[in-house]
Amino acid sequence: MAYILLTGASSGIGEVFAHQLAAEGQDLILTARREERLQDLASTLTSQHGVKVEVIAADLAAADGVDQLVRRIESADWPLAGLINNAGFGDRGRFDELPLQRQLAMIQVNISSLVSLTWQLLPRLRGQRDSFVINVASTAAFQGGPKMAVYYASKAFVLSFSEALHEELKHSGVRVSTLCPGPTATEFAQQANVADTKLFSSSAMSAEAVVRQALARRRSAIVIPGLLNRLMVWSGKLSPRWMTRRIAGWLQA
Ligand SMILES: NC(=O)c1ccc[n+]([C@@H]2O[C@H](COP(=O)([O-])OP(=O)(O)OC[C@H]3O[C@@H](n4cnc5c(N)ncnc54)[C@H](OP(=O)(O)O)[C@@H]3O)[C@@H](O)[C@H]2O)c1
Repeated sequence: MAYILLTGASSGIGEVFAHQLAAEGQDLILTARREERLQDLASTLTSQHGVKVEVIAADLAAADGVDQLVRRIESADWPLAGLINNAGFGDRGRFDELPLQRQLAMIQVNISSLVSLTWQLLPRLRGQRDSFVINVASTAAFQGGPKMAVYYASKAFVLSFSEALHEELKHSGVRVSTLCPGPTATEFAQQANVADTKLFSSSAMSAEAVVRQALARRRSAIVIPGLLNRLMVWSGKLSPRWMTRRIAGWLQA
């Protein structure tokens, strides 16, 4: 059976994707930096669901992270039925006060590695009937985000890029979907230093609910899980941009 490659599988939304796909009987290739966590997850999934799970540790912020990953897949000649570009991180703070290296690493993980993996693995995905790509963006993609400028901009890139690919590839047998979660209870909030913001302290969806909706609609161009998140995005579209970016900044204060 063909595999699904899942980035950012060591925690949060990625880990839940792994559980729900394994429950469908799907073989998986898991990647992230924390190899021990991936190995533990692989053992659990194999013993619970009898699926094959391969683990490849890779740092997607490193210049050669994606190439290492692709080389392993190509040398093993694993067929691919799906690619879930989920790895990503954010950081809260003024653009001029956050370290430049961290913000460039964010662009590398959230954007460059996603583009490179998609480009390098598309021929392999085309080799399977009815394959798919899910790129994880965010509701942050829909407006500028003061105090998280690079993160919001990175997710706007992911949404725009993935929407275009959805159209380009829709008759090719590869369906491209963009998942746009709102605040979700994972390690992200601690990592990005946003746990105490109005946005995260008011409401966060469970990663289980987010992934259930993503998989149920894995061939839709855009998936925004949760009614509240959809309402926020829709009301944002009806509002002037100066207003939506100021609200985003206020929610992150
Ligand atoms: N949680 C939210 O509120 C929320 C909302 C909207 C969108 N999202 C998006 O959802 C995706 C998953 O995030 P999450 O909420 O599940 O957060 P999380 O629990 O922090 O998971 C992030 C995953 O990305 C991996 N990752 C981070 N940096 C990496 C690197 N340099 N190389 C390889 N892997 C790396 C991490 O693995 P290692 O640390 O082991 O490398 C981890 O598996 C991200 O793209 C995030 O932007 C999250």
